[in-house]
Amino acid sequence: MKERNILEATVLTSPNPLTLICSQNEDGTTNLAPICFVSYLSFNPPMIGFACGKQSHTGKRVRETGKAIVTVPGQSLAQAVMACGSTTGASTHKVAENHIEMVDVEGSSIQIPADTRLAMVATLKQTVEVGDHILHICQVDQFLGDESRQGLYAWNGFGKVAPAQEG
Ligand SMILES: Cc1cc2nc3c(=O)[nH]c(=O)nc-3n(C[C@H](O)[C@H](O)[C@H](O)COP(=O)(O)O)c2cc1C
Repeated sequence: MKERNILEATVLTSPNPLTLICSQNEDGTTNLAPICFVSYLSFNPPMIGFACGKQSHTGKRVRETGKAIVTVPGQSLAQAVMACGSTTGASTHKVAENHIEMVDVEGSSIQIPADTRLAMVATLKQTVEVGDHILHICQVDQFLGDESRQGLYAWNGFGKVAPAQEG
């Protein structure tokens, strides 16, 4: 075996789980950011965690509002996901700019993309500084799923998003 760095490790674990995290902008619109640093953390209560770079607008807004919807994006969003990963919600309305069709989620003021396989409506419980990222530990209030939609994963580390094929 050869010694590898963490970026090379993410290539070797591909396809990696991919989420599109929906958070609320100051003006009430929804911001979207692809995040691969995500994991289930507890069954009871259901808890998940995701880590955002310290500069991330998503992280800032989740800490300010205490809310996020962690989604698994559907196949039609592949290009939009990459575009959302290259701009910040601090200065861009990514939903409008990328013409992403959004739908309401009952009981939440955050919208999600219409083409969503799984949505986890989450409340922030704790943050932990982890190196150059901040880990957001959340309780999931509601899981909403649509198995007819094919989910996206991250390939080549985080360089490309596409469905995962079985077999
Ligand atoms: C496939 C993919 C996965 C990513 N995973 C993460 C991640 O786990 N954590 C993170 O902080 N940024 C991640 N990024 C980068 C953010 O999506 C990017 O910095 C984005 O501009 C943040 O937007 P925001 O400032 O609106 O939150 C990823 C980008 C891509 C394309």
